[in-house]
Amino acid sequence: MQSDFHAERASMLHVGIIMDGNGRWAVRRGLSRLRGHEAGVEAIRRVVEAAPDQGVGTLTLYAFSSDNWRRPRTEVAGLMALLRFYLANEVQSLVKNGVRLKVIGRRDRLPDGIAAAIGRAEQATAQGRTLNLRIAVDYSARDAILNAAARLAGAAGAPTRQQFSDLVTGEADLRDVDLIIRTSGEQRLSDFLLWEGAYAELHFTETMWPDFDAEHLAEAVSAFHHRERRFGGLDALPLAPAASL
Ligand code: IPE
Ligand code: IPE
Ligand code: MG
Repeated sequence: MQSDFHAERASMLHVGIIMDGNGRWAVRRGLSRLRGHEAGVEAIRRVVEAAPDQGVGTLTLYAFSSDNWRRPRTEVAGLMALLRFYLANEVQSLVKNGVRLKVIGRRDRLPDGIAAAIGRAEQATAQGRTLNLRIAVDYSARDAILNAAARLAGAAGAPTRQQFSDLVTGEADLRDVDLIIRTSGEQRLSDFLLWEGAYAELHFTETMWPDFDAEHLAEAVSAFHHRERRFGGLDALPLAPAASL
């Protein structure tokens, strides 16, 4: 069943977004950084709504990295409150729009009640078929890879790439990420989708995340379609499912 879900999106893109620049967006306006994060939630709504029309079947959004715990306690608390708010208020519209939500990353360090709220939201949206929305919270790609390796320790023989990929991503047959977008002018991966992004095209934009909208997404997807993806060969392969390579 899981595989059917991903088979249905075989011809649709997997886009990952490093939603960066909330703090600078706010500070430039004389606002608190938290106001920037609040405006960032609005951008999430816009992009989730626009993604299916852009041929995006899976959207992975980087919301909070495992290294973000290093931020001041007040900012972390504000971000966690926003996550709680999103989970409590967004589920209805996700269901209405056919969005299946899955939260990736660690859950055991989140404030009380959030892990349970994530579980409820995932269950409520499990039938969504229009968009596979993955939100990365307390996420580290290196830890995801390390955990997959730890789970295989002691297993007889080496796993196939597909088997290992399923453990890293937590989903059977998830398509490798085709395009990673990072906003705010920064040009680095910051521990995001290191395994599934092996052949991802990278798109960097100066736009701060709170200003990002459907048009910016369309621009990034259109630029992606003009890239020549070769996967190590000599011929362009526009939409090869990279996981099987
Ligand atoms: C991205 O915006 C959101 C998170 C990392 C939680 P930032 O908070 O990193 O914004 P800048 O980079 O400081 O502007
Ligand atoms: C990456 O942004 C994490 C998220 C967008 C959630 P950061 O702003 O934390 O990354 P660095 O520290 O600038 O690399
Ligand atoms: Mg940042």
